[in-house]
Amino acid sequence: MQHIAIIMDGNGRWAKERGLPRAQGHRAGAESVREVMEACKELGVKYLTLYAFSSENWSRPEAEIKALMALLDRFLDEKGKELDKQNVRLQAIGQIDRLPKSTRDRLTKIQERTKNNDSMTLVLALSYGSREEITASARSIAEAALAGEITLDEITPELFSKHLYTSEIPDPDLLIRTSGEMRISNFLLWQISYSEIVIVKKMWPDFRQGDLFAAVEEYKTRHRRFGAL
Ligand code: IPE
Ligand code: IPE
Ligand code: MG
Repeated sequence: MQHIAIIMDGNGRWAKERGLPRAQGHRAGAESVREVMEACKELGVKYLTLYAFSSENWSRPEAEIKALMALLDRFLDEKGKELDKQNVRLQAIGQIDRLPKSTRDRLTKIQERTKNNDSMTLVLALSYGSREEITASARSIAEAALAGEITLDEITPELFSKHLYTSEIPDPDLLIRTSGEMRISNFLLWQISYSEIVIVKKMWPDFRQGDLFAAVEEYKTRHRRFGAL
């Protein structure tokens, strides 16, 4: 198993169940991030992608968006050095130019500092939407075709993949979603074509290393056929 992708869902409900503001749920979710990162390193997983903020999440109330961006900044401040020490490379996918400048600057700095690290790659999906990503890929291929740089016959799934944010990242083997919701919410639509999906009932702030190991055990029982026999 090379790549685990996680839709970290349920922070708001976790907080509500406790009579806390939603932002508290997001804060509590940061501990789960720490847990899964360690568990993935222990398992020797090469890529961990975390869906932290979707394109659609921009339609949440301003105050919640602010709280999420502040948390992200704090995560980057606290984790920057640590990621490097642990030989982890940081990457980001999504419409990064929509993020506040303070966040973009932090991201750029840590990506630059960790770019040669090779124990694991942590991919943060930020302002990420799969439809936007696929549309952008189609647009850049169309541009190349109009400029006469490629012929129509050269437009293959492989070429298409190369124009996605994830061009350098293998497809996820395992997709986990917490909070029990049975949906994809515009996450990696192209890349999860043959991923195994595990839905976990727990809310994201309750997700611990043991839950990740259990999801991996479940994955191991699956028989991946990729359409063949
Ligand atoms: C996931 O938790 C975090 C983000 C989407 C940013 P939610 O905020 O979606 O929490 P619920 O789903 O409302 O409980
Ligand atoms: C998906 O969760 C996005 C992230 C986890 C960042 P949402 O809570 O935004 O998705 P929906 O609204 O339940 O589909
Ligand atoms: Mg949600």
